[in-house]
Amino acid sequence: MKSRKHSYFRLFHSAFLSRRGVFYVKNEGVCFMTTWNLNGTKHHVLICNGSSCMKKGGEEATQAIREKVSEMDADSVIHTTRTRCNGRCKDAPVAIVYPEGIWYKQVTPGLAHQIVEEHLVNGNVISEMVIYDYKKNGFVAPENSDSIKGVDKVESKA
Ligand code: FES
Repeated sequence: MKSRKHSYFRLFHSAFLSRRGVFYVKNEGVCFMTTWNLNGTKHHVLICNGSSCMKKGGEEATQAIREKVSEMDADSVIHTTRTRCNGRCKDAPVAIVYPEGIWYKQVTPGLAHQIVEEHLVNGNVISEMVIYDYKKNGFVAPENSDSIKGVDKVESKA
């Protein structure tokens, strides 16, 4: 049986505490086990990491959004999440900003920086890159949109 001292030693060498939470290094892989306190968060950005978006620069877009959030010291008010496919692959890479319900298309690193700085920090939507905007009755594509309409879903009775 291992001593308590040995257990603490192992814990010390297998876990790192950071400002952002705790992550553990297991064998050769890294296992993140983060539980954020999201009180006070103002925006949630869903960054599509589905296969179509990743083929068209989704990783670069993800990194650019996260780097800009950190650079602007806005981690406490902007939360980001990688997602699987959001169903708008023709617009890849896609990022969605809540609570506004704004969907952005073709998110390059440059647009990613604009989304953070202009939209999330200064409140100005980058309208020319919007696929959908959430209005009173649901998502609405801009009138001048050059994105494809997409396949209609079967109407529900809800
Ligand atoms: S993979 Fe991103 S919308 Fe489909």
